[in-house]
Amino acid sequence: MERILRVNGGKPLTGEITVRGAKNFVPKAMVASLLGTQPSVLSNVPRIRDVDVVSELLTLHGVRVNYDPGAGTITLDPSNVESAHVADIDALAGSSRIPILFCGPLLHRLGEAFIPDLGGCNIGGRPIDFHLDTLRRFGAEVTRTETGTHISAKNGLKGTKIHLPYPSVGATEQTLLTAVMAEGLTELSGAAIEPEIMDLINVLQKMGAIMSVDTDRTIRIEGVKELSGFRHTSLPDRIEAASWASAALATKGDIFVRGAHQPDMTTFLNTYRKVGGAFDISDEGIHFWHPGGELNSIVLETNVHPGFMTDWQQPLVVALTQARGLSIMHETVYEDRLGFTSALKEMGANIQTYRECLGGLQCRFGQRNYRHSAVISGPTPLRAADITVPDLRGGFSYLIAALAAEGTSRVYGIDVISRGYEHFLSKLRALNADVELEN
Ligand code: EPU
Repeated sequence: MERILRVNGGKPLTGEITVRGAKNFVPKAMVASLLGTQPSVLSNVPRIRDVDVVSELLTLHGVRVNYDPGAGTITLDPSNVESAHVADIDALAGSSRIPILFCGPLLHRLGEAFIPDLGGCNIGGRPIDFHLDTLRRFGAEVTRTETGTHISAKNGLKGTKIHLPYPSVGATEQTLLTAVMAEGLTELSGAAIEPEIMDLINVLQKMGAIMSVDTDRTIRIEGVKELSGFRHTSLPDRIEAASWASAALATKGDIFVRGAHQPDMTTFLNTYRKVGGAFDISDEGIHFWHPGGELNSIVLETNVHPGFMTDWQQPLVVALTQARGLSIMHETVYEDRLGFTSALKEMGANIQTYRECLGGLQCRFGQRNYRHSAVISGPTPLRAADITVPDLRGGFSYLIAALAAEGTSRVYGIDVISRGYEHFLSKLRALNADVELEN
């Protein structure tokens, strides 16, 4: 049964919480362990749903997984990798986007793989064409079935030249995880260079891979015959850190985010300062607060790294409803990531969405049928409402909106949020939020 959270809002969030490893890195490092001949140990692993899904998938393929959530350490022993039953894999379909990244490692280890149809957030079409094209270029045979994709490479995988039409995070990771043990050289141009990808490169290098990254988004990989295990500590979750920062701003609060890491967040921090938020950076984390007075409206567009992350957009939009004047948010990564604004409108926000590209860039979604630009006019007080979580980041934004709104809101379907926010209920309580589970 979907859980409902009752939120008595209108009070600032104050206090301290800790963020651990990045949701968009940890599961991928876990997949990389499949490539090794030795066990790997990953630290700073958060207790989130995606970690559980990948642990289950790895276990189905014969990897011995040992997770200590308190210590945040996971040990992965791939010495007995084997094929899993399609029915067992199928049972995990639809709960995450990570399974597609098993392709390269399983092809190297077993010569074939079955990948269930993917889940993840409903924020656009989220095709996997780049992934499948990439695998074909390495020499894999790809066959679509009713419930997923069957991939085989009986004659091994060979290095190749790949150009991504868009710097996709997942397709870049797919290429890295496949190229490291493919025969010969691979050159990937148009690659994504998000910090989580750089940390995956760190892991692969620790395992024995040979790869270099150029400033022009080109990654070159020299395939090796064998990789060992790794010991690694995950980079912190910069999306979770920014989400709490936006919560501090929207609720006129004051939050110390232990573990937040400035180098991965410079674009967010610049924006936060322009909006009028205050922060103080230390070695232990970042302290975020609303300094009083009015917030400023801004013009912003989401983009691939080093741009403003799409995953930072939804929580910040809630804070922008409290800024004076017109803010423009142009979403250029996903065609359908502004749907969550409809509930904010019901809560009193003044937001219009447009098909046009508003702002500087003409993006892939302009002149098509996607409402991917928003104009937010503020400040507007938010009213309590009954709202249903639409997706992971949208869901966290609804929590922020309910916490900022006067009165009692009910947030339905909060379990989606635990896909990417570790212990969010206890963190909310630690920040003095007045929240209670209804069922
Ligand atoms: N795309 C294609 N074809 C493909 C792959 C991607 O057209 O084969 C398009 C997508 O439809 C999208 C764009 O390329 O418009 C970018 O997608 P990308 O592949 O970069 O995203 P992803 O790897 O599926 C990861 C994160 C997302 C995050 C994006 C962008 C994970 C598990 N997910 O997704 O995180 O928004 O990169 O940074 O790493 C989240 O955490 O809430 C989340 C959605």
